[in-house]
Amino acid sequence: MKHYIKHHSWHIIEEGFDPNLNRISESLFSLGNGRMGQRANFEETYSGDQHQGTYVAGVYYPDKTRVGWWKNGYPEYFAKVLNAPSWIGIQIKIGKNELDLNKCKVTDFKRTLDMKRGVLHRTFTATLPDGKQVQVDAQRFCSMADGEVGAIRYAVTPVNFSASATITLSVDADVVNKDSNYDENFWNEVAKEAKSGLALVTVETKKTFFHVTTAITYSLHSAGKAVKGKVKVNKLEKYADNVVSIGLKKGIEIVIYKYAAILSSENHSKKKLADTAKKKLKASADKGFDKLIDAHASVWANVWKKCDINIDGDVAAQQGIRFNIFQLMQTYTGDDARLNIGPKGFTGEKYGGSTYWDTEAYCLPFYLGTSDPAVAKNLLVYRYKHLPRAIENAKKLGFTNGAALYPMVTMNGEECHNEWEITFEEIHRNGAIAFAIFDYIRYTGDEDYLVDFGLEVLIAISRFWSQRITFSAEKQQYVMLGVTGPNEYENNVNNNWYTSYIACWTLGYTQKALEYVRKKDTSKVSKLLSKIKFNEATEISRWKDIQAKMYFGEDKQRGIYLQQDGFLDKELLGMKDLRKEDRPLNQKWSWDRILRSCFIKQADVLQGLYLFDDQFDNDTIKRNFDFYEPMTVHESSLSPCVHVILASKIGYKAKAYEMYLRTSRLDLDDYNNDTEDGCHITSMAGTWMSVIKGFGGMRVKDGTLHFNPYLPDQWKSYSFRIDFRGRVIKVTVAKSNVETILESGDPLEIVLNDKQAKLT
Ligand code: BGC
Repeated sequence: MKHYIKHHSWHIIEEGFDPNLNRISESLFSLGNGRMGQRANFEETYSGDQHQGTYVAGVYYPDKTRVGWWKNGYPEYFAKVLNAPSWIGIQIKIGKNELDLNKCKVTDFKRTLDMKRGVLHRTFTATLPDGKQVQVDAQRFCSMADGEVGAIRYAVTPVNFSASATITLSVDADVVNKDSNYDENFWNEVAKEAKSGLALVTVETKKTFFHVTTAITYSLHSAGKAVKGKVKVNKLEKYADNVVSIGLKKGIEIVIYKYAAILSSENHSKKKLADTAKKKLKASADKGFDKLIDAHASVWANVWKKCDINIDGDVAAQQGIRFNIFQLMQTYTGDDARLNIGPKGFTGEKYGGSTYWDTEAYCLPFYLGTSDPAVAKNLLVYRYKHLPRAIENAKKLGFTNGAALYPMVTMNGEECHNEWEITFEEIHRNGAIAFAIFDYIRYTGDEDYLVDFGLEVLIAISRFWSQRITFSAEKQQYVMLGVTGPNEYENNVNNNWYTSYIACWTLGYTQKALEYVRKKDTSKVSKLLSKIKFNEATEISRWKDIQAKMYFGEDKQRGIYLQQDGFLDKELLGMKDLRKEDRPLNQKWSWDRILRSCFIKQADVLQGLYLFDDQFDNDTIKRNFDFYEPMTVHESSLSPCVHVILASKIGYKAKAYEMYLRTSRLDLDDYNNDTEDGCHITSMAGTWMSVIKGFGGMRVKDGTLHFNPYLPDQWKSYSFRIDFRGRVIKVTVAKSNVETILESGDPLEIVLNDKQAKLT
């Protein structure tokens, strides 16, 4: 764990420059706007250790896979979000020396991420090797008002000298992915331009042929007046710049405004990309930095108006929750059903920027509660559009009759993951995708979704379950063999309780969905059933048989569900039996030792009790929690939040709070020693759920909103807002009372602490 981030309710602050923490800070101070994002790399040259990262949403490369032993059914490639051309470069050379924090003495360094306005701010004083001192004040943002625009204000003041200097304003497309499997460069150059006031580079991805144009312009000012220097331009391989020579005068600040337009062929025709970028650039520069930043900040103001969570009495917790909301909102804005949420968002390369089950199981509830329903709907439509590929994927593995297996990891619907125990066996992801349809409809009331998209997906997933589940003559029951549950520290197990439960639930929900759609639109349902050649009599009767005769492992004496067959044969230890040196297990123990141990990476049985908590009484949840939680090492960031929600439900307040701190400050305090790879964006949605569903006890039952809130002992009060069926509702929980206010929308009946109440 690290504790160098200063506590502040709206800002993330780093004071003093420690090169050893630079990669962590680059992740934490990342910026994004749903269309693009970047790690908090420095504008000026930095020759020290860094992880340069700029990303454009939806632009990926199918990197050739690397495996020891090829297995039939493995996908050919692993899609990766690309490290894209960098537009931030502002290199400063004074005399012979370059401004490079790795080669200067750095004082008064302060990096601030203003989450209220979405602005990254950095100030420092650097003493160059020849003793010249410069002060720098740099601000930048990726515009939330126009997802293709970014801007920088970079002010330089010579403290103790006057000298001539050069300022290089660059576009650098000569970038590589650190996670490239064969050290390949993924970009080819298409075109470049460099003239006074413009540098532009268009590159194309190999194999996928996406085009990205990155164009920059700039202006220089001193004492409020524009300054013109002598300009030289350079065009190199995948690189273009303007080098401006100017005189620096002691004590006089020079302000550089750099504007960037970043456009991809996902949204524009390839032919028009460069022209459109230039137009956008001109419009941005004409508006100027102040207007651009105001427009950007006002989008953030609106975001916060709807979804801020306010915690009184605990600045660390306050900073934590805002950081989580901020990162999620800058990762996905929900206006494009082709896009999704990678586990690292725009903050790093790990997980290839691809889509995981994290989206449905964790992120969907966040966007349901904080945004227009269209945003969550787009996440579902994304999977609907991938249905043909999910069917194809199942077919490759030997399934028939339109059965669909959604990929564990994907960019475009194709499976990109190839570790057999995950690709072939971690099939519970299919359940999460079905559950998300239910969750969306439960929350929004938009049952038409079933008619237009949902039913088709549900039938295809149910077809998969009905083939994947087999009949055991020995047990005279149905079983599910050879699976990996959410707990990836167990592989190839039989009868993983969670997977079997969600599979059976899907079969039941699909039947209900079919009945609903049939009533709503007979002709549509007939068309769909004939398109997919649905044999209702035989298929549904098998589904019903499975539901009636599915085997679920239980230990009646302990009153718990068995994570999988044979779980109780393990040596049942607890976290208390582990030494500090053993943790994290995945870095310290051999894989076979992990697999044989009882230790659980992330909620598994408890994941099921969380999703279906209305189907189990509190005593059952308690018994399972008491049994499994002590063995859970939470080495997946997705784990603690589930424990906050369940612990809150069963009255384990201290445990809930302990887990809350862990999820909310996971990255800020670098709990798992891996923030340098990027932030855990998808688990941030779990932090939000911890407050709303955990402490706030929010649920939707039969179309009605319920709250059962309590106040963690460490807080004086907290409040949150949720967007529910056209209303914005604010809930404030203090020591002595709970207040629910309808801030906008029609009156609404809710249930507060099990009592009906009307919000007007
Ligand atoms: C977790 C998975 C998760 C993935 C991406 C893994 O460590 O075990 O459940 O989908 O990370 O967040």
